[in-house]
Amino acid sequence: MIRNVTAAAARDDEGAPVDPGFGVYVHWPFCLSKCPYCDFNSHVRGAAIDEARYLAAFRAEIAHRASLAPGRVVRSVFFGGGTPSLMRPQTVQGVIDAISSAWRLEPDAEITLEANPTSVEAGRFRGYRAAGVNRLSIGVQALSDADLKALGRRHTVAEALAAVALAASLFPRFSFDLIYGRPGQGEADWRDELARALDHVGDHVSLYQLTIEPDTIFERLRDAGKLQLPDEDLSLALFETTRELTRARGLPAYEVSNHARPGGESRHNLVYWRYGEYAGVGPGAHGRLITAKGRLAQETERHPEMWLTQVEAEGHGLVESVALSREEQGDEFLLMGLRLSEGVDPRAFEKLTGRDIDLARVESLIGDGFLERDERGRIRVTAMGAPLLDTVVADVAA
Ligand SMILES: C[S@@+](CC[C@H](N)C(=O)[O-])C[C@H]1O[C@@H](n2cnc3c(N)ncnc32)[C@H](O)[C@@H]1O
Ligand code: SF4
Repeated sequence: MIRNVTAAAARDDEGAPVDPGFGVYVHWPFCLSKCPYCDFNSHVRGAAIDEARYLAAFRAEIAHRASLAPGRVVRSVFFGGGTPSLMRPQTVQGVIDAISSAWRLEPDAEITLEANPTSVEAGRFRGYRAAGVNRLSIGVQALSDADLKALGRRHTVAEALAAVALAASLFPRFSFDLIYGRPGQGEADWRDELARALDHVGDHVSLYQLTIEPDTIFERLRDAGKLQLPDEDLSLALFETTRELTRARGLPAYEVSNHARPGGESRHNLVYWRYGEYAGVGPGAHGRLITAKGRLAQETERHPEMWLTQVEAEGHGLVESVALSREEQGDEFLLMGLRLSEGVDPRAFEKLTGRDIDLARVESLIGDGFLERDERGRIRVTAMGAPLLDTVVADVAA
């Protein structure tokens, strides 16, 4: 029996590997406006969204995935976006009901919803709690009104902190996101901002270094020399400050950008990072289902109205569902698992792929100080390797 499901202890009390579990990801693809840094599958619509029609399509997709992966016990549900806090609570309730009739929901399943902290959306928090959501993840992004404006956000710092306080009073668990490494932000600015933010934290906080994504307004501004972005040294200093302050407040990093009190880790994201099984429903959602055909990598149609039409015609929105080779699974396992502070178990890799992790390469990265082996033989990225994670992982997976 698994008694201790925390990132710090990826094994149960008997020393057996923890089962990563089964999660369901639900994508709500709409936002009130497009933030200039964002490349998520989010769309702005002038007219009201026909939520009843979307709910019927979500129900169809959930039933379809349950026919491919029947009998699962759901450990977590995650409403991500886009802006799921634009959904009516009845729609959220309908999706949760559909999930619990398609599979069995664990009695203490984690049900998270991503919320933007405008006062209008905060007005729906009570409804989400009543619908069964037990964890809110709030997009605070910055504690400076000028920076929120530059990020294209529709809320102020005061609104964001009020939304966090409301979430803390209504939900058993909550988290919020901040973006750092913002244009013009120095190390002292971030240290001060993060220290203030940590005064409002619950059991979890996500701290993302700004990335300039392709085809965003920020990319065009950067290319035109109009964004003053941190150089490599400042990026590293910001990353280290983040690690230092969160550790000091009892929420060490358990993943590159995610920090939690022990036991407060996002169970849903742990399903991904421990390479578990998950169904993805809604426009542009990804899934990994283990079926008789192998581990299927699934992806749905990204465009909301096209997704809707396809689901109505075919009963699902999948545009891709392919079995991954053992080699591809090994690469994904490393890509996900090395993001975690607990690292990866080489025996799990061997079981999955039928081959050894390239020991010569691992040893050389250990020698260079980028990787380390813990007392149980797990391999993990060191503090020195963490800022270079992508390069390190590419090297082990190659
Ligand atoms: C799906 S997104 C947004 C959820 C919600 N709509 C919001 O804006 O708060 C999840 C998180 O990714 C982070 N994020 C999005 N784009 C980013 C970027 N270019 N660089 C760093 N973090 C980013 C933000 O912190 C955001 O809260
Ligand atoms: S950051 Fe959030 S609110 Fe802004 S466009 Fe992306 S998903 Fe929508």
